[in-house]
Amino acid sequence: MKFFVDTAEVDEIAELNALGMVDGVTTNPSLIMKSGRDILEVTKEIAEMVEGPVSAEVVALEADQMIEEGRKLAKIAPNIAVKVPLTWAGLKACNVLTDEGNMVNVTLCFSANQALLAAKAGATFISPFIGRLDDINLDGMELIADIRQIYDNYGFDTQILSASIRTVNHAYQAAMVGSDVMTAPPKVIKQMAEHPLTDKGLASFMADWEKTGQKIL
Ligand code: G3P
Repeated sequence: MKFFVDTAEVDEIAELNALGMVDGVTTNPSLIMKSGRDILEVTKEIAEMVEGPVSAEVVALEADQMIEEGRKLAKIAPNIAVKVPLTWAGLKACNVLTDEGNMVNVTLCFSANQALLAAKAGATFISPFIGRLDDINLDGMELIADIRQIYDNYGFDTQILSASIRTVNHAYQAAMVGSDVMTAPPKVIKQMAEHPLTDKGLASFMADWEKTGQKIL
């Protein structure tokens, strides 16, 4: 499963990128707002740092304007994936922008039928939001499994990009059901390294090593 980082904080991306953990980056208007940065500048900076796709989201609601915004965002760098919302206008924009050779990430997906439409419109990525479905007592992971099955039934090559990942359990489950990509905040990716038995085992090894009086360096 590819790891995208869901943030517009350049320092956090750089830290994970140095470990080879970053296959791409996703941003959205809320993340741009949190970063306090100019969308064009910060997207350029991220796209220069990371080799993989960097999603930058349009903010227009009508298809023609989305297409214009998408073209402008796509010009920032060759690895930009234009992000459009899963509305009828967004699907139209997806179709035009993919025909023009751009990567398109269709976002705010909350149903299997929406994901099917995005694949028909030629989306490179579909972004179902797991955490936000869980927030309203629905099962976000069931949606990922359903989309996986539908895409496999018909050989769609749209990649499932599990988004709104809030916990390490979401990450594990997304991998188990065959999500192609997950996008998670840096904090969640770091938490995936944690296990109490690792900490306990390490403390015990260190205590015994101390008793040997030896040094490696
Ligand atoms: O990738 C979409 C993500 O940013 C949404 O996450 O936690 O705001 O639902 P969240």
